[in-house]
Parts: sequence; structure tokens; C-alpha cells
Amino acid sequence: MSSPNPHVLGVLGHPVEHSQSPALFADMFAREGRSDLSYRTFDLPNLDDFERFLVRHPEVAGLNVTVPHKRDILPHLCEVSPEAEALGAVNTLVRTTNGWVGHNTDVWGFQRSIQPFLANRHERALVLGTGGSAAAVHHVLSGLGIDTVAVSRHGNSADNTHALGRPCVGYHELSEAMLKHHLLVVHCTPVGMSPNTEGMVEVPVSFLTPDHLVVDLIYTPLETQLLRKAREQGAATLNGADMLRLQAEKAWEIWKEAGV
Ligand SMILES: NC(=O)c1ccc[n+]([C@@H]2O[C@H](COP(=O)([O-])OP(=O)(O)OC[C@H]3O[C@@H](n4cnc5c(N)ncnc54)[C@H](OP(=O)(O)O)[C@@H]3O)[C@@H](O)[C@H]2O)c1
Repeated sequence: MSSPNPHVLGVLGHPVEHSQSPALFADMFAREGRSDLSYRTFDLPNLDDFERFLVRHPEVAGLNVTVPHKRDILPHLCEVSPEAEALGAVNTLVRTTNGWVGHNTDVWGFQRSIQPFLANRHERALVLGTGGSAAAVHHVLSGLGIDTVAVSRHGNSADNTHALGRPCVGYHELSEAMLKHHLLVVHCTPVGMSPNTEGMVEVPVSFLTPDHLVVDLIYTPLETQLLRKAREQGAATLNGADMLRLQAEKAWEIWKEAGV
């Protein structure tokens, strides 16, 4: 470690005041008797201030990175893990003597959370949204041999035929046949997240069946409108709470391996 006695971990993003990470990490530290550590939220609207932030906070040993900095922080790092490199996004940073090293534990968290729910029929998936979390989801599902199609508000426009390197369609193209052909649906947009819990992306939920698995990465609320309607159609549903816990546990492992 380059700073004297770093003992603070935290989450860097904007906004971050509603993050559930401090509570998650407080539990983990308590379970392991690590009263020497604390976990804080660091609200940083602009990454131009990142170097100044580091100088002001030599006590910080590791950071989670959240919206909107998961991609733009890459130039500030001395090294990134192969997975993070492939996705072009990080969510966990470790301070080393050479600088900051980036990892992506969303991949780990999503894979471990969805695997127990997958069945042989889940051969093809619709991934709603084309942001950083959708990139992690495509990466995991492809690795599991599941074909993915991106669904975007921009649809199959000239410059968006292959969003995130995948075939891409618009919400208006989600026909009954399309839903019948894709028995896994993963929602990766902020629509429906607290406090705007009435929101829902334009998925024709009436085409969902008991053969479908619908996953929503959102964890507040635990049941979004999309999950509620999917459940009412008889589909299996999974929210983002397990993924959140698992990606945090993986980040904690990475920090401990680095000597925190
Ligand atoms: N459970 C977990 O551990 C976990 C981890 C990561 C993220 N998440 C959750 O996953 C969600 C997405 O995260 P993210 O970082 O990928 O978000 P993001 O980059 O801000 O947005 C993802 C995508 O959502 C689509 N989108 C945005 N606003 C929309 C709107 N009003 N209507 C329809 N589509 C919209 C956009 O795709 P198009 O422009 O192509 O439509 C956008 O690229 C958030 O709710 C986040 O909290 C959960």
C-alpha cells in the first residue's frame, strides 16, 4: 500500500447516498471482526477530480465504482483484469504501490446468481438495455453458451444494428414469436427502480409464459413492475439482490487478497 495505514473502503459514484453497499460491507466486516475497517460513500460528480480525491483520501485502500464512472475511470488505472478489459468497465478498484488496479465483479455476481435458475430450455436470451450491466450480462450468458440479443430504445437503427457486439432489436419488435423463441429475459435498465417504481420498459408481458425466466438487475424494489407482471404470467423471476450481495463478496475477497 502506498498510503499510511489505509483502512477505509468505499463506493465512488454520483449519486451514491442511497447505495446499499455500506450496509452490506458493515455486515461483512462485523462477521469477520474487522472493526479496523470502515466503508463510506464518496460522491464524485466529475472524474476530472479523481486525482485530487485520491490526494485528499490517502486512507482509502479500495473502492467500488458505480454509475456514471464504471467506464470513464479506466484511463486513471494502471492495470485492469482481463474480464474488465473485455467489458471496458470496472466496478472494483484496489490501491497498489503502482497505482489503481480495476476488476469487474458484476460478472461474477451475475453468473453466480443466475446459474441455479437456468434450465436447458434457456438457450436464447433477450437482454434489455445496452449499458455497462448489460455488457456484463451478455459476457456471462455467452460464456454459458446462451445466445443473446440486445434490446434497445434505439432499436435496429443504422448505427445500432449490433449494440454491444450483439444483434440488436427495438422494443416494438418483441413479437409473440420472438418471446416464444427467447425463454430468458434479463432487464438491465434503471426503469422501475425506486423511487420511480411505476416505470416499466415496453416488453409485451402478455407473451410471457411459465417456461420463461425473467431476471431484473434492480434490487430496490425487490419486485419491480416487470417482475410482478412476469410472476402473474406464471414466469419464474429473479431480482438483483443476490447479484448485489455476490458482487460485493467478490470485491471483499479481492481486497483481502490485496492485503486489506
Ligand atoms: N444487482 C446488481 O448488483 C446490479 C449491478 C449493476 C447494475 N444494476 C442495476 O442495473 C440497472 C442498469 O445499470 P447500468 O449501469 O447498466 O445502467 P445505465 O448504463 O445507466 O443504463 C443501461 C441502459 O438502460 C437503457 N435505458 C436507460 N434509460 C432508459 C429509459 N428511460 N427507458 C428505456 N431504457 C433505458 C439504455 O439502453 P438503450 O439506450 O440502448 O435503450 C441504457 O444504456 C440499474 O438499475 C442498476 O441499479 C444492478
